[in-house]
Amino acid sequence: MNPSTSPASLSLTRRGFLKQTSLAVAGAAAAAQFPFVTTSHAAPDDPIGVALIGCGGRGTGAAGDFLEAAKTLDAANPNAKIVAVADIFPGPAEAARRRFSEVSADTCFVGFDAYQKALAVPGINYVILATPPGFRPIHLRAAIEAGKNVFMEKPVATDGVGIRSVLESGELAKQKGLQIAAGTQRRHQAGYQETIQRLQDGAIGEILGLRAYWNQGAIWHRGDDPNKSEMENQVHNWYHYVWLSGDHICEQHVHNLDVCNWIMNAHPKSAYGQGGRQALGSKTGHIWDHFAVEYEYPDGARLFSQCRQIQDTQGRVSEAVQGTKGTSDPSGTYRVKGGDSWSTSLKLDHSNPYVQEHIDLIRAVRGGKPINEARNVAESTLTAILGRESAYSGQILTWDEVLNAKTSLIPEKLEWGPAPKWEVAIPGIYKPLI
Ligand SMILES: NC(=O)c1ccc[n+]([C@@H]2O[C@H](COP(=O)([O-])OP(=O)(O)OC[C@H]3O[C@@H](n4cnc5c(N)ncnc54)[C@H](O)[C@@H]3O)[C@@H](O)[C@H]2O)c1
Repeated sequence: MNPSTSPASLSLTRRGFLKQTSLAVAGAAAAAQFPFVTTSHAAPDDPIGVALIGCGGRGTGAAGDFLEAAKTLDAANPNAKIVAVADIFPGPAEAARRRFSEVSADTCFVGFDAYQKALAVPGINYVILATPPGFRPIHLRAAIEAGKNVFMEKPVATDGVGIRSVLESGELAKQKGLQIAAGTQRRHQAGYQETIQRLQDGAIGEILGLRAYWNQGAIWHRGDDPNKSEMENQVHNWYHYVWLSGDHICEQHVHNLDVCNWIMNAHPKSAYGQGGRQALGSKTGHIWDHFAVEYEYPDGARLFSQCRQIQDTQGRVSEAVQGTKGTSDPSGTYRVKGGDSWSTSLKLDHSNPYVQEHIDLIRAVRGGKPINEARNVAESTLTAILGRESAYSGQILTWDEVLNAKTSLIPEKLEWGPAPKWEVAIPGIYKPLI
């Protein structure tokens, strides 16, 4: 699981950590220099120019959702456009350039540094980050330091070092008056909003237990090209490499874990997990295909979580809550013992939460209610990382141990060429990232 643990690779990861720390210091210094600088716009029709970083399925989808959101707010004058696109590979960048007509050849960028070039394009004040999550902490920091508002997809990191960086960037954004929304779209969905408010107000009494599921069929694998470098094959098949995806507990199950943290208004203090890699066979990569984790919250409530990606198995994607007085499906209903079921009737501006999240961010950028979801999504992502590290190692681990991990999974050299060799984690042998 860990990159080949030669002294050289260990020192590389340590250097990576030091680099992140010095970036953190630089960010804090910038914040101290400009404590109350705000780049927020104040008028409801101010123009918004977007840089899309990561032009795959979700990135282009999110850019489309952004345009739909701007039209929902003002059909006659949306005053919003996609100005620049950036991807590590030419194919997705070119496809996005053709899809969004205001992007020109001069504002379409390719490569590891494409994000920096896109951030430098004049007129950009809103950035969509939709690459694999391993890159998110680096891209978020660059966007906030460049003074941009951010929509970032979940998850937001793959290790504790990355989570600490995201938390710092979130704080820097607040100091600079920048807005951040995250792709945990259930937070922008009417049913969840109203139900969770009621649960927090005590509708089913004290919450004792939660369950969360993301069980689905097998995930894609794009195949490998023997003529390409190891790094290129890993980035192409990013879902299958933990430094890039965080494993599927992070990649997908983060949505359900986020709902549970939201209900509890807290994050777990420890996790006790297990799982394995049973059906992925000889596919390259080293992720697992099933996890089961018990989390404990500070007040003693327990969350039992399952996630699985195995073909021809029973699917289930949902959350459930048990309180002293009743039960709830937090997406829209609850039932008090001996009473009738209650169901939400709340309506937001848009029934599609993928559009609503951009409506909320656009409003904030144009001077409406501020939004900063960096901490929520960072904590939900760390909840997933905590469960993963507990399951991989077979140990009970605490929140603080995993948050304060000393080494990063991210390779020191982000360039085409060789990449670390990874092994499938074996509980009892794997050393957790703490
Ligand atoms: N909120 C949701 O419901 C939801 C749904 C799907 C995906 N997502 C998230 O969106 C992100 C992307 O997922 P996807 O399905 O679009 O994957 P994808 O593979 O279709 O797209 C990722 C894109 O990022 C590019 N990329 C990789 N590394 C890059 C880098 N360093 N710089 C620039 N571009 C880079 C890839 O070439 C690819 O085009 C993931 O974090 C995923 O979890 C969220």
